[in-house]
Amino acid sequence: MPGWYEKNYWKTGFKSRLYDFLTPEAYFESMRRTVALIPEKKEGKIWDAGCGSGLLLVFLKNALKEGMNYFGTDLLFSGLEKAKLRAREFEISERVTCFQNDLSGTPPFNENSMDIIIAHFSLYTIFDDDKRLQALKNMFQVLKTGGMLIATCPSKNYDADKIIKNSLELVRVNKGISNAMIKRFIFYPLTKNLGLSFIQKQLESGKWIAYTLEGFQEELRQAGFNIGPSKSVYAEGAYLLCGHKSS
Ligand SMILES: C[S@@+](CC[C@H](N)C(=O)[O-])C[C@H]1O[C@@H](n2cnc3c(N)ncnc32)[C@H](O)[C@@H]1O
Repeated sequence: MPGWYEKNYWKTGFKSRLYDFLTPEAYFESMRRTVALIPEKKEGKIWDAGCGSGLLLVFLKNALKEGMNYFGTDLLFSGLEKAKLRAREFEISERVTCFQNDLSGTPPFNENSMDIIIAHFSLYTIFDDDKRLQALKNMFQVLKTGGMLIATCPSKNYDADKIIKNSLELVRVNKGISNAMIKRFIFYPLTKNLGLSFIQKQLESGKWIAYTLEGFQEELRQAGFNIGPSKSVYAEGAYLLCGHKSS
């Protein structure tokens, strides 16, 4: 069962829409903080590397309507289908391209072609160090000089209980007490038991990567990036790092 769960974890979540329904508010907040770092532009290309079901489109849709173009890639077909559906719902299909790609395989774009690359919680499930570094080197290669990678991965402080507590507080402040009660008693028990606790176990057993800030920065450096600002996000359960490609 654990093997099956590990193998089908994202696929089942994307197909059933459980991923959307059970995403904790702190995760959305991490996406908001990611998108807030993108310099305001009327055009340009964004690569969402390991895009899953394209949840980031929720926060990018205005920038895309203004003229930016989005490229989402993932290993999983089920996620990509969902991302395309989302783009149709938001009426931004003409700005959205999604296709299958292994981040550690051949780079899916030309050198120096992307303005922004976002890797939101996608690198940490690539267990093999060489493959993860290759994925980052691919990102460095396709990024334009002057472009920016915004990468987020779990930290050693990942704690399911803290993420739920922080998410409830965010819902209470942003959406009111009754929404917080619904999340607390209906959705978040499932979020914790089906999702966050499983991820925590994977991180604690070393099957997926929980980073120190220095370790994460070092990986980006090895791939060629200059390290920019970093933030602790996701109830201190993750680091968000900016990597720059300088001339
Ligand atoms: C936690 S989900 C994050 C999805 C999305 N970035 C988000 O934040 O909603 C991790 C995603 O990384 C993808 N992934 C893992 N390893 C990958 C690889 N080697 N190449 C492409 N995608 C990969 C998985 O298929 C999954 O969709």
